[in-house]
Amino acid sequence: MNDRVRLPDWLELAEADTEPWPAPLDDDGPTVMPLTWDRGPDRLWGTYERAERDHYALAEAIDWSELRPDDHSPEERLGLAYWFAMHGSFESAGVLTFARALIAAFEAREHDAVRRMLVTVTRDENHHDEMAMRVCRAMVPGFPDTMTPATELERAAMRNIAWVQARINHYWRGYLAAHDRYRFGTIVSAFAAGEAAGTFMFGQLGQDSTHPVLRDLMRLVARDESRHFSLATHLMRRYLPIISAEEQTAVLKNLVGSYAYFSVFMDEPNELFWGQLPDGWLGWHQRLEEHARGTGLAVPDTAGRRELWRAAFLRVKSIVDEVGLDFPAIPELDIDGQTLAITPEDVLVAAL
Ligand SMILES: [Fe+2]
Ligand SMILES: [Fe+2]
Repeated sequence: MNDRVRLPDWLELAEADTEPWPAPLDDDGPTVMPLTWDRGPDRLWGTYERAERDHYALAEAIDWSELRPDDHSPEERLGLAYWFAMHGSFESAGVLTFARALIAAFEAREHDAVRRMLVTVTRDENHHDEMAMRVCRAMVPGFPDTMTPATELERAAMRNIAWVQARINHYWRGYLAAHDRYRFGTIVSAFAAGEAAGTFMFGQLGQDSTHPVLRDLMRLVARDESRHFSLATHLMRRYLPIISAEEQTAVLKNLVGSYAYFSVFMDEPNELFWGQLPDGWLGWHQRLEEHARGTGLAVPDTAGRRELWRAAFLRVKSIVDEVGLDFPAIPELDIDGQTLAITPEDVLVAAL
């Protein structure tokens, strides 16, 4: 289905040689060898080289001494740790999501640029999760994993994160199963919405946050996410036109599913996808986010988030339009299109 790389042809070489060569590889089975350095498109290779140049040592890229717990009230510290723990939950899922996609890229015999980009994306998501860990450890040591909550707010913060992580685990299983159900091109065509969300959300946070450490962290994340989005658009442009109609529908459904899945981060939790959250979840979430804002992290309100989410989807829509497919309607974001009935099983991707 794709213009997969050409592997070295041992059979041809063996015919021209008097010494024996190994038997040809089974063409459809997973392999790591023989090695090929067929680069793929120059533009994507350029993005890979940029990723290498952009790479940073997190311990040194940020002046961590500026992140001083004593500058903030206990509620603000907890609010900030809560926001980062929530963010880190999606990011750590990202490490595994892209690591799994990296394996799939080798199996699908993708170009070198795609494989190497997936290494950098996996590494970036690891960084983003490490940022979350560092902020949490500085602000509220032990949160959200090993602390014994002493106040109602602490207990609510830990419970809220536990609920999100439990649901992410559920969707993670769906992502693993999707690798058995769909081909590489279908799964990776589904990455664009999450990466677009990250690009827009962290771009705004990097622009508007007033705390120097938080602003610098968000700028690093935004820069990384925009590269991830470049990879996602490359993959979508490449595969969306050549996968089957059934697979195209799966990708389009995943876009609506992504809206609902990331709604807990980008909007108010979508009922169908996050209906298991207990009644009090949203109230505590909003309270903790308000405390996080007090530290100088420019967390947008629901209307602001919807605006970013809409801009991200319109960006993805422009690629779907190029391919000539009918984009799905997302009424919550005032985006018109075809109506697709979806279920939580239609989410293919569980990371930002
Ligand atoms: Fe990320
Ligand atoms: Fe990302």
